[in-house]
Amino acid sequence: MVKQRFVLPVDPDPCPDLKVERGPKETGVGRWVPDDKHTLLAKWLGGTRQARAKWPQRVYIDPFCGPGRIQVEGESFTRDGGALVAWRRSQAHGVPFTRMLIGDIEPERAQACAARLRALNAPVQEFTGPAAETAPRMAATVPSGALVLAYIDPYNLSYLSFGILQALAKLPKVDLLVHFSTMDLQRNVDIALDDARARFDDAAPGWRTHVDHSQMAKVSLREAFFNYWLDAVKKLDFTSARHMPLIRGDRNAPLYRLVEFSRHPLANKVWDDVAKPANLELFG
Ligand SMILES: C[S@@+](CC[C@H](N)C(=O)[O-])C[C@H]1O[C@@H](n2cnc3c(N)ncnc32)[C@H](O)[C@@H]1O
Repeated sequence: MVKQRFVLPVDPDPCPDLKVERGPKETGVGRWVPDDKHTLLAKWLGGTRQARAKWPQRVYIDPFCGPGRIQVEGESFTRDGGALVAWRRSQAHGVPFTRMLIGDIEPERAQACAARLRALNAPVQEFTGPAAETAPRMAATVPSGALVLAYIDPYNLSYLSFGILQALAKLPKVDLLVHFSTMDLQRNVDIALDDARARFDDAAPGWRTHVDHSQMAKVSLREAFFNYWLDAVKKLDFTSARHMPLIRGDRNAPLYRLVEFSRHPLANKVWDDVAKPANLELFG
């Protein structure tokens, strides 16, 4: 049976006067943001909704939330950002999050995202500051027995501090959707300067002593770094889904891998189902 293709709805901006994310050059974000990143988030939430319905407390954590609204390059209208996609989908599924903990290093962004969520009656609590500081504070406010989704979406690898994942891993029932910037890795990990490579020490502490970076070809080095990071996260008592889709930018450059971690095989299975290569969906 052919599955019906899910298309992310375009909903009105509840706060049209507030900040909108338009990318580093203010010309708009890439098409891949709604088409891949937010669509996968929405589909994973759809696939796990029945499991989530069994939990009275359902918490969403997003320490890199942005302003909650994006504009895609070439589009005349704006769309929801990740936190609003998550909130609206959870409502549409009849299992709304009972808490939305969002944060950003830029106060204007955190405030805009919180205002938009509040306008849609979301139970939101906002944090301002670097995710390495706010994620442990967010984790500390999670009620015991809650099922948690943490959506970790930094611009690049140097902000993906391993401490963020360690803090979240202390929560017993947490699933992680992590955006691992391969573009950053591609540009910097193979530079033969230790201070360029040191840029990634916070994301994967110890990698330079465990990965023999002096001998490896560039491609193997990037692969070895990614595998080292993956193993380090799994050692926090997670398993990862098999599919880790590589999101490519508008000029086909690899940008991110989207990686799901869970302690429940069902969550991994749902991710594998929604993130499998598109041509396989025809045989769904
Ligand atoms: C990729 S954007 C987030 C997009 C958003 N998650 C979405 O799906 O719509 C990354 C955000 O992280 C923020 N940021 C950058 N460095 C940060 C840090 N160290 N801690 C927390 N937020 C940071 C930026 O201000 C930006 O809003």
